[in-house]
Amino acid sequence: MPEFVEIFEVGPRDGLQNEKAQIATEDKIALVDCLSAAGFKRIEVASFVSPKWVPQMADSGAVLAGINRKSGISYAALTPNMKGFERAVEAKADEIAIFASASEGFSKANINASIAESLERFAPVAAAAQAQGIPVRGYVSCVTDCPYDGKTDPLDVARVAKALLDLGCYEISLGDTIGQGTPERIQAMLKAVIDVVPVTQLAGHYHDTSGRALDNIETSLELGVRVFDAAVGGLGGCPYAPGAAGNVATEAVDQRLIALGYQTGLDAAIISKAADMARAMRAGS
Ligand code: HMG
Ligand code: MG
Repeated sequence: MPEFVEIFEVGPRDGLQNEKAQIATEDKIALVDCLSAAGFKRIEVASFVSPKWVPQMADSGAVLAGINRKSGISYAALTPNMKGFERAVEAKADEIAIFASASEGFSKANINASIAESLERFAPVAAAAQAQGIPVRGYVSCVTDCPYDGKTDPLDVARVAKALLDLGCYEISLGDTIGQGTPERIQAMLKAVIDVVPVTQLAGHYHDTSGRALDNIETSLELGVRVFDAAVGGLGGCPYAPGAAGNVATEAVDQRLIALGYQTGLDAAIISKAADMARAMRAGS
């Protein structure tokens, strides 16, 4: 039996959040419903951030209300603060994610807080989620490079990842936000993080800006990482990370994992259909 590697689908959130023209809520719902049939265990569908900062995600509550929830799938949402958490609870998100950065420049640009301030802000969110039995995932952005501060020290990534683990995150997703990482630097970063966070609680979140995301996934597999975030159709980027275009495409990760002898449990034909839908949304926006 081939070993299982999970792809965490982030397309409806990370893939779409950077689109300038507003995508119709019904189209977002149709994309999630299509993805729900593909075999994912977790799909990030919403982001309860400030609508002034990311207007594209302003209809997150309506998206969560409109989808056909399939049992066994966790529908996830980003929550930057208590206000976002309250909106996520109201919308019945199955799990939430708090998102920090390993670099000060991106932290300030993305969430208007220093790293230390952001961790203080996340503490009550994580505590409230735990009190309500809602799983919390953590993100660390800029794990190799920051668009404002340059190269990131692996020890800074390890420090922030450990802080998120200590807040109660069940998994820490390590983001190469601007897709500049090389396999060597991803390896050095992962080694530092694995010293303080069990590898079974790590995920790779690699943007494909430089076309190296699949190589970075292979390197991560060698070190024991078994969860990777990806966005169907390779859409994506972060409005506060110039040059961050393109999450690694779900269909490309799926193909590479299968070629390497892993199983993903995904239906390639449905993913291909969802990728077409996602690309059409960009074309139409
Ligand atoms: P701020 O302006 O410092 O916040 O933003 P504030 O607390 O001063 O509030 C300002 C206004 O926003 C107030 O409204 C608040 O009520 C409202 P006003 O009184 O002016 O009318 N507000 C909210 N409204 C709705 N929902 C909320 C919320 N919070 C405040 N949750 C804040 C601070 C964190 C809110 C802002 O900076 C923000 O929303 N940032 C999010 C940016 C973002 O979404 N970036 C993309 C996601 S991260 C990413 O893509 C990276 C990742 O993929 C991993 C990787 O690739 O590395 C995860
Ligand atoms: Mg991202």
